[in-house]
Amino acid sequence: MPVYTIRHSPALHGEAQINTSKNAVLPILAAALLCSSPVTIHRAPRLTDVDHMLRVLTDCGARIGRQDRDITIYPAALRQPREPQNLHSLRASILVLGPLCVRLGEAIVPLPGGCAIGQRPVDIHLNGLRAMGAETEQADNCAVARGRLRGANIYLDFPSVGATENLLMAAALADGVTRIENAAKEPEIVDLADFLNLAGAHIVGAGTGTLVIEGVSRLSGVEYTPIADRIEAGTLACAAAITKGSMLLCGVHGEHLRALLFKLREMGLLVQEDARGLCLRGQVRHGADIRTLSYPGFPTDLQAPMMTVACAARGRSVFLETIFENRYMHAISLCRMGADIRTEGRMAVVEGGRPLSGAVVEATDLRAGAALMLAGLIAQGETTLLDEPGHICRGYEGLDEKLRALGADVTIAPLH
Ligand code: EPZ
Repeated sequence: MPVYTIRHSPALHGEAQINTSKNAVLPILAAALLCSSPVTIHRAPRLTDVDHMLRVLTDCGARIGRQDRDITIYPAALRQPREPQNLHSLRASILVLGPLCVRLGEAIVPLPGGCAIGQRPVDIHLNGLRAMGAETEQADNCAVARGRLRGANIYLDFPSVGATENLLMAAALADGVTRIENAAKEPEIVDLADFLNLAGAHIVGAGTGTLVIEGVSRLSGVEYTPIADRIEAGTLACAAAITKGSMLLCGVHGEHLRALLFKLREMGLLVQEDARGLCLRGQVRHGADIRTLSYPGFPTDLQAPMMTVACAARGRSVFLETIFENRYMHAISLCRMGADIRTEGRMAVVEGGRPLSGAVVEATDLRAGAALMLAGLIAQGETTLLDEPGHICRGYEGLDEKLRALGADVTIAPLH
């Protein structure tokens, strides 16, 4: 798998076309299992997580066609997944639980288990399906849900993105009306609801904390283009901020990045929005305090890239990671590069403005890898970023290419 070599780079200048969102495409692919005829997703990003999800859908009996960035899912004879290894290593595979349960009356989905950033339980998913009439259990490292689903009033203990998506998909074909309160409000939830409504679902309230879904008897296949990836855009915005460059991020909605843009402006960056996308220039002058929250709060997926920005800004930045219990592993490598970061549980204190030096560092998860690639751009000398499991290409399509096109000195080589 890849090794990245990153050298100190000049200010990044230019335009970047933002891909469609990994975290919108993955649930929409799972939702294709609900449809009675073929679904085509346009402009799909070339990501290993997408490839992986397609293997999961194939394992559930669907047939897949790919033509460049168009993916067509033929939801033929659905069945329970048989290749546990496919599901164990992709967190998002849990998103087939709701669709299989409501279409087959039963879902037995091997659990991916925890990952670098946290334990990732699925209790909120199962509690919601139980409220809809399913018998649920976690056995043999599988999530199991059996029974005919009917509309119910559900309150989520935490506005879980994945649980909201699973329950939204299950409710779309359940008998009766389902009300989901304390639901996640992420733009990817709205995109999933838009896809399902286009296919014939009756969903109102997406993007608010309360979803009301009137179940229908069938959903028809549609063609759909998902929203732009706000996390890819936010990551590139952080690259502009630390290199004092100027960048136009095309295709992304500023509305989906309010919290990040507010913080970058607070730190000194100039940010403008126009019909083409987001224009950023200038530099961060001082630190800021970052508390990750569910949308519309600051996104946890941009906490790591933002920590690199905090290292570049003079003064103190205090981070509070309220979403995942172990999402500061990038701090260890940033300190190896000379940063002054102290972490204690969910809090991290960054004393920014210290010069960074190139080092050999390792990507521990997807967003940590991106943060370290950005850090290499402003470190003196050369940084070697080991990414043996291929974390970065799970969620970023050619991040090194996009940065290189903007003037960054980043190269990639296969690990010998
Ligand atoms: C989605 O993960 C995203 N992944 C994550 O992006 C993102 O960080 C996360 O939402 C939060 O925004 C996809 O959309 C594919 P959650 P998900 O359920 O659905 C706890 C990336 O880098 N929880 O909102 O798994 C959980 O442990 C990835 O692109 C329960 O306790 O996130 C976590 O602490 C990383 N019980 C918190 O909620 C449950 O049943 C948030 O999890 C479910 C979740």
